[in-house]
Amino acid sequence: MSSTLRSMSNTPSSRHIDVVLGDRSYTVSIGPGLLGDAARWREALRGRHVLVVSNTTVAPLYLQRVTQALEGMQWSTFLLEDGESHKTFANVGRALEALAHLGATRDACILALGGGVVGDLAGFTAACWMRGIDFIQMPTTLLAMVDSSVGGKTGVNLPAGKNLIGAFHQPRCVIADTDVLATLSDRQYSAGLAEVIKGAAIGDTDFFAWLEANADALAARDTTTLIEAIARKVSYKAGVVARDETEQGERALLNLGHTFGHALETAGNYTTLLHGEGVAVGMVLAARLSERLGMSHATDTERLRQLLGRVGLPTTIPAGMQPDVLLGLMHLDKKTLAGKLRLILWRGIGRAEIVTGVDESAVLAVLY
Ligand code: NAD
Ligand code: GLY
Repeated sequence: MSSTLRSMSNTPSSRHIDVVLGDRSYTVSIGPGLLGDAARWREALRGRHVLVVSNTTVAPLYLQRVTQALEGMQWSTFLLEDGESHKTFANVGRALEALAHLGATRDACILALGGGVVGDLAGFTAACWMRGIDFIQMPTTLLAMVDSSVGGKTGVNLPAGKNLIGAFHQPRCVIADTDVLATLSDRQYSAGLAEVIKGAAIGDTDFFAWLEANADALAARDTTTLIEAIARKVSYKAGVVARDETEQGERALLNLGHTFGHALETAGNYTTLLHGEGVAVGMVLAARLSERLGMSHATDTERLRQLLGRVGLPTTIPAGMQPDVLLGLMHLDKKTLAGKLRLILWRGIGRAEIVTGVDESAVLAVLY
């Protein structure tokens, strides 16, 4: 762990949050101009070899900000085509070949410059090369800044399902340069806000109230408000990951809305809904199901629905999706145990919990 990264103080324009995991602890830095400020991250590189993994959309925009800091290193790039369909085992193989071509040794580092697709694939590649080398997350979407770059879940998809291959492999640091969000589409930006709201909905009532009070500023992309929102979500997730790194218990709560959301994403062939949009609708369905099971009140569902809507997120199932098909897809979720649905539901805002063996007729009722 880099002592400089650790000791950086929080300023109004940048925030630094530690993920505490013993000798694998690291810092998440959030703020403007961080990619070009190489002093912030270059000392985290232990060896001479660096592979920058990015994609064909992000690289033309931001790759140079990173590579200009790599003078004196032996480095190369590996670029993915853009899109979830390229998060494949075959591309991990190609990235590993790129490391071999570079002559990467055990002290090599991968820089993951991009959204969650790049971060997940690059992190998994780092976990595989020589049984594990360093990688640095440089998330460029809001979703990646607040969720996928933090916590060490890495992996790729199979035709049989999303994220079926993977490893827990923590990054050496996370550099979230908020300037890069300027080129992110409004739809992708809102999808990232779904993951911010999710953290508050799961376990932080004060944060949820703060989001309600600041929803308009967030929707308008006010920088100070946004940095505070990212920092609060990352702090929340860092706490959960520190207590339950490999998801033996509490970490599963981070999947509020996911079982519904993944089914919606799959039913829409991954084109109708973005991941964050699926999570937004999924959280509302989880809240409605909780209400139906007598666990929570309609007022909580309504507060959640309102907040999601105010930042431009969908809150209802897209037209044409069949309830029985969605229920079938929900059974494919990784949390399903012995054929029984295991869902993250809540007892109201900030009080999510794991519920096993949920009555399927109640689930079906909220899918209509
Ligand atoms: P993504 O990586 O596909 O990025 C979304 C789009 O934004 C892409 O077209 C990308 O090229 C573009 N983009 C990225 N940065 C940009 C920028 N600064 N300006 C303009 N365009 C930019 O999607 P995502 O939403 O970032 O991540 C979704 C992925 O993350 C999924 O594969 C999901 O499974 C994974 N995920 C992983 C975790 C985890 O804990 N590891 C958590 C949540 C999601
Ligand atoms: N996105 C869920 C997790 O990191 O555990």
